[in-house]
Amino acid sequence: MGLKVVILAAGKGTRMRSSLPKVLQPLAAKPLLWHVIHRAEQLQPEQIIGVIGHGAELVKQALVEPNLVWCMQTEQLGTGHAVQQAESFITAHDQVLILYGDVPLTQPETLEMLLSLLDESHPLALLTIPLANPTGYGRIVRNLEGRVEQIVEQKDASDAQLAIQEVNTGIMAVQGQQLFGWLAHLSNDNAQGEYYLTDIIAKAVADGFQVQTCSPSDEIEVLGVNNKVQLQDLERQYQYQQACLLMEQGATLIDARRIDIRGQVEIGQDVEIDVNVVFEGQVKLADGVKIGANCVLKDVEIAQGTHIKPFSHLEQAKVGAACQIGPYARLRPDTELADQVHIGNFVEVKKSCIAQGSKVNHLSYIGDTQMGAGVNIGAGTITCNYDGVNKHQTIIGDRVFVGSDTQLVAPVTIEDDATIGAGSTITKTAPQGELTLSRAKQLTIKGWQKPVKKS
Ligand code: UD1
Ligand code: CA
Repeated sequence: MGLKVVILAAGKGTRMRSSLPKVLQPLAAKPLLWHVIHRAEQLQPEQIIGVIGHGAELVKQALVEPNLVWCMQTEQLGTGHAVQQAESFITAHDQVLILYGDVPLTQPETLEMLLSLLDESHPLALLTIPLANPTGYGRIVRNLEGRVEQIVEQKDASDAQLAIQEVNTGIMAVQGQQLFGWLAHLSNDNAQGEYYLTDIIAKAVADGFQVQTCSPSDEIEVLGVNNKVQLQDLERQYQYQQACLLMEQGATLIDARRIDIRGQVEIGQDVEIDVNVVFEGQVKLADGVKIGANCVLKDVEIAQGTHIKPFSHLEQAKVGAACQIGPYARLRPDTELADQVHIGNFVEVKKSCIAQGSKVNHLSYIGDTQMGAGVNIGAGTITCNYDGVNKHQTIIGDRVFVGSDTQLVAPVTIEDDATIGAGSTITKTAPQGELTLSRAKQLTIKGWQKPVKKS
């Protein structure tokens, strides 16, 4: 007996008013359907079957998972018809879990609880939830003993049924043995002219089975996305949930409602994060790291006690311990900083290694550079790494002092303990321990007259 997960994702999502299929709309920078698949994956199913139709090619390209197969529903004739398309992947011995591609945040534990309700004599289990405002959802109709009798869709419901607050989340678990028998006998004689998956409930009851139900612990788990308002609402709720997880691990957040995690953040102890920080990809923050307001960090690793000051942008960078970065610093891909490095305002570093204790404090570009320890780079210094065709390396030794407003034209080497005079354009090796400069001699033109305006 295996577990098969069927995810319904063929619908167009008209109300999104977007050329992107609904299930590819992003939540925390990943497609809605990605979240559904990844949560389903945690149940270790034998197979996940994605039923697709609208934008099928785009969906297939966007999501490639080892355990996932696609099946086509070329015409969207209803949720029951959609599940039928997956029949060839499922045997009578399977348990089938049906999920919706637009309901992304159901917890694996909730799905496990639902599956645990299934056995030979209980072939159908539903995830339901009482909602203060049930408008739009299918209603769970129970008899006097409280047993489920059927699901009635909003558009087919009587006034008395519309008053029911317990709704169908859409998520259900069914034994493969019965599922396709019930689906084969669905009719589309209803308000929407569709083959409703929900009609199998009445069929199970008619066959003498008791339908099992359970509920998720939090409403967020069953919220679906039909338009951009619901999408941003779910994004905010999800972000708040992630912020709470960080705080549970000990992070200090100045405002848990002003942080965005679009990926994964791993933290040590006593990490402080100010407002409006965006994390993308995989981020690691060691003990005592502080992130100032309005920073964006993508795929970075930051060691103990480092302070990233406001308005800094870091991508694919590794930063050592006790560094000071920013405000207004930019670390671009393949930047590696050792401990106690200072990178100040309006400094851009790309594909460069900077050794311990070196400082680049103001208005500089450091690219394709190997920099030693204890170096001081003066304000406005630029490594000219690009000749218009190729990129070249700049090598800077230990304890070098580069005066302000210097251009280091790569390929070029500045040897250990060298000093470069301010305003120099350096094109050849600057030897060890010496002062090197390239500068026109200062002169004063005696008696020079300012031009006068022509009449
Ligand atoms: C469905 C349920 C309703 C439940 C609600 C929960 C039915 C008949 N109704 O209604 O009881 O309260 O979800 O959100 O099932 N899809 C296909 N092929 C189709 C039709 C739909 O793949 O032919 C997919 C859609 O892409 C979507 C999902 O199935 O991901 C649900 O379809 P939707 O039309 O949104 O159903 P609801 O009217 O919301
Ligand atoms: Ca829906």
